[in-house]
Amino acid sequence: MLLQVLGTAAGGGLPQWNCACPGCSGARAHPHWRRRHASLAVRADRDRWYIVNATPDIGDQIESVAGLWPGPEPRRTPVAGLVLTDAELDHTLGIARLREAKSLEVLTTAPVCDALLTKLRLGEVLGPYTRLGWRDLPLDRPVPLTPGSGVEISAIPVSGKRPRYAAGGPGGPDDGAWVVALRLTERATGTTALYAPALAAWPPALHRAATEADCVIVDGTFWDDEEPRRSGISARTATGMGHLPIDGPGGTARLLAPLTGRRLYTHLNNTNPLVDPAAPQHKVLAELGIEVAADGMVIEP
Ligand code: MLT
Ligand code: MN
Ligand code: ZN
Repeated sequence: MLLQVLGTAAGGGLPQWNCACPGCSGARAHPHWRRRHASLAVRADRDRWYIVNATPDIGDQIESVAGLWPGPEPRRTPVAGLVLTDAELDHTLGIARLREAKSLEVLTTAPVCDALLTKLRLGEVLGPYTRLGWRDLPLDRPVPLTPGSGVEISAIPVSGKRPRYAAGGPGGPDDGAWVVALRLTERATGTTALYAPALAAWPPALHRAATEADCVIVDGTFWDDEEPRRSGISARTATGMGHLPIDGPGGTARLLAPLTGRRLYTHLNNTNPLVDPAAPQHKVLAELGIEVAADGMVIEP
């Protein structure tokens, strides 16, 4: 299995356009601090890729990896479609950026598809430009990423956290699937990767999947629960914003530490001390065997 990390920042990116916090200022002064919005490309077969989450950076992200460039015919692209883990704007605004496609396949759960069609009205808005082909992302039932692909995908429900633009609507039977983790399995080898850039909770099914996975890439938005309040970006804690922090008693580092597979954090907010490559927090994670994903990283679980 081949995974290409296209970005590792939370909503806003690093730097965020209207922010002069130490992380964003650091990224302006030191270009190697910069991170694009969190996204991952998964190779389905020799020259077909799926992009997990369509971020505002998706155009630049495709240009940053030669394997995602079009050719040899003028309008032939190796990008076969999109997979969405949730309906958040930082993971969906890039859909409109790809409107030059004749058609675009999008794998989502039912509530995410419904939010994009009825709240963001993507079907109506993009209909005159491209044809969006919605495909159901099955829960706990692996299906080939694309017909004949050696990589299977399934979704593990993580939480019912809705994006703010879809807050308060009527509940549905699939409400637990507003945010999912993706489980990717290479059929030939049984190798498994887990991608979960938004974790409001750590349910038992996710824990089982993480324990079995050869590689887990998870939500590293905030270092600790108080970070959003301390930095002044929010009146809520990290948990209150729908992101389990890395550190502390309710943090994910403690859950990841005993796992045997490769473990990486992604979706770093610009307030996270880890955005500074020299921050001592990197050593804390390294001692637990946990990595911080970097833009451009190639992962072969
Ligand atoms: C999140 O990760 O909580 C959202 O991306 C927040 C946002 O879109 O502002
Ligand atoms: Mn986000
Ligand atoms: Zn900032």
